Amino acid sequence: MDKALSGIRILDMSHVQAGPTGSQLMAWLGADVIKFEPPTGDITRGQLRDVPNADSLYFTMLNCNKRSITVNMKNPAGKEIFIELLKKCDVLMENFGPGVLDRLGFAWEKVNQINPRIVMASIKGFGSSGPYADFKAYENVAQAMGGGMSTTGAPDGPPFVSGAQIGDSGTGLHLVIGILAALHHRNKTGKGQYVEVAMMDSVMNLCRVKWRDHQRLTRGELSEYSIPTKGLKATPRSGNDSGGGQLGNAIKCKPGGPNDYIYVVVQEAVWDALAKRIGGEALAKDPKFATIGERRRHQGKMWALIEKFASSYTKRELMALLNELDVPCGPIMSTEDLASDEHVNLRNMYVELDHPQRGTWYNIGMPIKLSDSPADIKRSPLLGEHTEEILKEVLGYDDSRIASLKNAGAFSTPPKKAA
Ligand SMILES: CC(C)(COP(=O)(O)OP(=O)(O)OC[C@H]1O[C@@H](n2cnc3c(N)ncnc32)[C@H](O)[C@@H]1OP(=O)(O)O)[C@@H](O)C(=O)NCCC(=O)NCCS
Repeated sequence: MDKALSGIRILDMSHVQAGPTGSQLMAWLGADVIKFEPPTGDITRGQLRDVPNADSLYFTMLNCNKRSITVNMKNPAGKEIFIELLKKCDVLMENFGPGVLDRLGFAWEKVNQINPRIVMASIKGFGSSGPYADFKAYENVAQAMGGGMSTTGAPDGPPFVSGAQIGDSGTGLHLVIGILAALHHRNKTGKGQYVEVAMMDSVMNLCRVKWRDHQRLTRGELSEYSIPTKGLKATPRSGNDSGGGQLGNAIKCKPGGPNDYIYVVVQEAVWDALAKRIGGEALAKDPKFATIGERRRHQGKMWALIEKFASSYTKRELMALLNELDVPCGPIMSTEDLASDEHVNLRNMYVELDHPQRGTWYNIGMPIKLSDSPADIKRSPLLGEHTEEILKEVLGYDDSRIASLKNAGAFSTPPKKAA
């Protein structure tokens, strides 16, 4: 079936997580993504392995629907293949450390000279300018430096990283948006351009509402926070406070296990119904909670009342009960809960796949649903699985040319496919 990005070919040099999550999305949208790997492969193939000698889940979960070619860029014959592929691709993606592509002889100016229509998309920890430009970065470094960690965690505890990979996968999303915009621009002008996304910038963007609070602090207290904020110069950690205009908190439920909580938003419009359900007419009429301002002031007492009520129910029972009252709420779902959740299953968000080395495994599905061209998820490629196919189909090389490139050390021999 024709997909939204059918006809777009991507030369994907990206590695580890930040780039590959982005290029996997592009592949799910229908682009032909050629994963261009060193002869040793993306380092994640061998990291955190759960099955001996098989590509790790770290790799398989981030590299579906791609084709793999191995080429040694430190070899002149390998560089020749790279240049020819650049001429045949619409997009080049990479997230190497600072200066790596320059050292290989392929800065943007050179890439643009080889193919003026190509969009080159780079992720760097801190971008290509500024005092941090030469530094490498990983997920938690970006969360630390982009304001994510200082605003996450309990107010009286240390800074925390979030489980959501906002530094890596969050940056990959930003890169995809930039690439799509640059391709649209190319349709109008015929010219490619350079798209750069810094992980630190992406985390700052994802922490935007924390900057709302940073500036509000100059004018007084943040009334929605459950801790005193008077005199603070920086947005504090706010635990499970809602962070929005409505009050919210994680409420403990039955039977009291580590994930037996439900997040409840006491939206202004639902207070009357909620109060009647948990404390009858008396609570609904209690002046201490009559307005959102009063509820903010007495939120400790309000949460205690809600938690007392919640202690008789499981998180699933509470979800049903509160949704009947139109109260926005969400049980804290563990990965175990999600893996067997009917809603997740029906939306194809936990997808069973096969793999020649590891057998059955699961990937998180495509979160972007297109009505006319839905994603068709296929397993990740073995290292170099498509080297010859790409050289023949994309570059038109014949067997003797491939053999002489092989002899010249341009790429490794692909591993044998499992039966
Ligand atoms: C993630 C990161 C810290 C990893 O650092 P690293 O493992 O030292 O890897 P680098 O990207 O710095 O270097 C890759 C090396 O592989 C080499 N290489 C890459 N592809 C190659 C190929 N096809 N053939 C031969 N060599 C290749 C590069 O030339 C480079 O070698 P060099 O150091 O001799 O120049 C770094 O890539 C980085 O900061 N990236 C940008 C930020 C980012 O995306 N971080 C999140 C990752 S999830």
